[in-house]
Amino acid sequence: MPSLDDVTRPPGRPPRILYGGDWNPEQWPEETWTEDVRLMRRAGVTSVTLGVFSWARIEPSPGKREFDWLDRLMDLTHTHGIGVVLATPTSSPPPWMGRLHPETLPRDEDGRTEWWGSRQHFSHSSEVYRQYAASITEDLAARYAGHPALTMWHINNEYCTYDWGDEAARTFRRWLQDRYGTLDALNTAWGTDFWSQRYGDWAEVLPPRRAHYLKNPAHVLDFRRYTSDQLLACYRAERDIVRRHTPDLPVTTNFMPFWSGQDGWTWAAEEDLVSVDVYPDPRDPGSAAYNAMIGDLTRSQAGGGPWMVMEQAAGAVNWRGVNHPKPYGLNRLWALQAIAHGADAVCYFQWRQSRQGAEKFHSGMLGHAGERGRVFQETVRIGEDLARLGPRVAGSRVTTGIAVLHDWNSWWAGDQEGALSRRVDHAEIVGAWHRALWDAHLPASFAHPHHDLGCHRLVLVPHLYLLDDTAIDNLVAYVRGGGTLVCGFLTGIADQDDRVRPGGMDARLCELLGIDLLQEWWPLDEGEHVDCGTFRGTLWSEELIAAPGAETVAAYRGGELDGLPAVLRNGRARYLTTLPEPAALSRLLSAVAEEAGVRPVVDGLPADVEAVRRGDLLFLLRHGHDPVTVTLPGRHRDLLTGTEIAGALKLERYGVAVLEVSGAQVPEPADAGTREEHGPGARPVPEGRR
Ligand code: GLA
Repeated sequence: MPSLDDVTRPPGRPPRILYGGDWNPEQWPEETWTEDVRLMRRAGVTSVTLGVFSWARIEPSPGKREFDWLDRLMDLTHTHGIGVVLATPTSSPPPWMGRLHPETLPRDEDGRTEWWGSRQHFSHSSEVYRQYAASITEDLAARYAGHPALTMWHINNEYCTYDWGDEAARTFRRWLQDRYGTLDALNTAWGTDFWSQRYGDWAEVLPPRRAHYLKNPAHVLDFRRYTSDQLLACYRAERDIVRRHTPDLPVTTNFMPFWSGQDGWTWAAEEDLVSVDVYPDPRDPGSAAYNAMIGDLTRSQAGGGPWMVMEQAAGAVNWRGVNHPKPYGLNRLWALQAIAHGADAVCYFQWRQSRQGAEKFHSGMLGHAGERGRVFQETVRIGEDLARLGPRVAGSRVTTGIAVLHDWNSWWAGDQEGALSRRVDHAEIVGAWHRALWDAHLPASFAHPHHDLGCHRLVLVPHLYLLDDTAIDNLVAYVRGGGTLVCGFLTGIADQDDRVRPGGMDARLCELLGIDLLQEWWPLDEGEHVDCGTFRGTLWSEELIAAPGAETVAAYRGGELDGLPAVLRNGRARYLTTLPEPAALSRLLSAVAEEAGVRPVVDGLPADVEAVRRGDLLFLLRHGHDPVTVTLPGRHRDLLTGTEIAGALKLERYGVAVLEVSGAQVPEPADAGTREEHGPGARPVPEGRR
């Protein structure tokens, strides 16, 4: 399998970063297409994604095919040297499908139908839908397999649907039969003897529909696992069809960022290239750190190799309560931030802003203001920057010494109606820990709890409520092997069936973390804090007795937990029974990182200046409004401006510098940590032809 760049780069040209976006030209008269490609060339666009929502155009009535317009577009892009990421249009079936085959429409938890008139109104379990999807994918792939513009496949779009309908009930039962074999095993796994839920016949097992009171959490957990697997089966079916026609082209599907609906590790392993859509709020001061986290997670899902921003917005989106544009420079900053975190492609939704339809107020690379508009001017500027960086950046890797563990199964299990605190949110806690690292200028990667962790100096477990035996053994082996581990509260409370471990926490973990007895959980209200001596804890606290030999690094002061451990240390393993306030968490993790031999990429950086080392380049990104000066040892050349930097570097508002550095002057994080590599569950962007 070739790398992204291998297939998208014209022969004889140096490596480059893919740049472009979704192009939905069926909205426009054909004269506009010619204008579009002219402007794309001006902006340095190298790739467009066609066909994402084109099903009704290609198949206006059942079985009919209209490809002529798409033929002309494929030829046009090729003539202008622009590659095509061709999407299967299966995320938005034409209205005729719902009318003729109502069973293709999904049902919500209350049994209500999701009708056509928007998009993504397909039941992942509908045989009819799957047959139509396979058929159009087959014809699309057969028609364009040899087309010179075709560089890559994009399957469906942001798989994210749920279905509680009758056909889903049948496939849910089949999925459960595969998992458990017998109804007895299912009854045991779900603990159905509580509340008289015991099933006597498979026909009684339903998706977790609207019910009177709390649902069985193990049932809901399996429904989420099943939904992820059902959608994955839809993806696989289409992927296998396109692979048959074009075995040399990479296949992807665009993830929503840090989205709970799909098990991202399992999905990523099924893709040739991992891609994600990222839409941070330009007004949110946390957006830069959020982008960094999405970049780190996506790169890690790609096994540490290059990944792709499939979509972002050049300006405002139109789905928040209030939608703010990006001030000039912010689009460029975030595009280059993605590159710093390992992306080899920066693309947008969408090329030309729509004049009609649901997203006419959503920005495009070419906005309503047109060629003279500042959004387009920035589009051109980003194209120039990417062209400069491509030959030096494409294909290179980001190295980190820290791994943050994350698992969708644990997210799903922890997110249950009967939890002790609705305020405990997996994504927020993971975000808080990653943010604490980001604030300390410590680059990090993500890993699954089953991955080989030995290559990381420091492993963090912000919130893995569910840990199976393999994961627990992996953590124990990691620390025994010399690794440094920090676990957050509620680590490993439940097994794979969401059954609370005997004693409230697994005995192997208690031993590892230095816990003698876990007495009670004491969740905290909004605005409530616990005094931990040198810092304040939020969200949660725990009443536990330390095992002999474990050190209470910080203790609660006052209240019911007075004197009990807030932070417990047992050798190289630590356990946090609360969530320290942001600055304290950042200090704590920095101190542990230093002890583990992991240092910031650059020392003494001002706040809101991010430093990321990618290959032999150092990206410095100014996430703030005022200019700042950064002091660096030695002399460096800025690839973006071609200027020599000696000593001090001034970064303007939203400024970026990409410096060539020698290892001695700015140490590669690998000096202090190790290159990230994952075990099973993720795989790198393949490099050779399949
Ligand atoms: C998603 C979709 C796009 C578009 C954008 C708008 O990412 O994939 O089609 O709707 O949202 O932000």
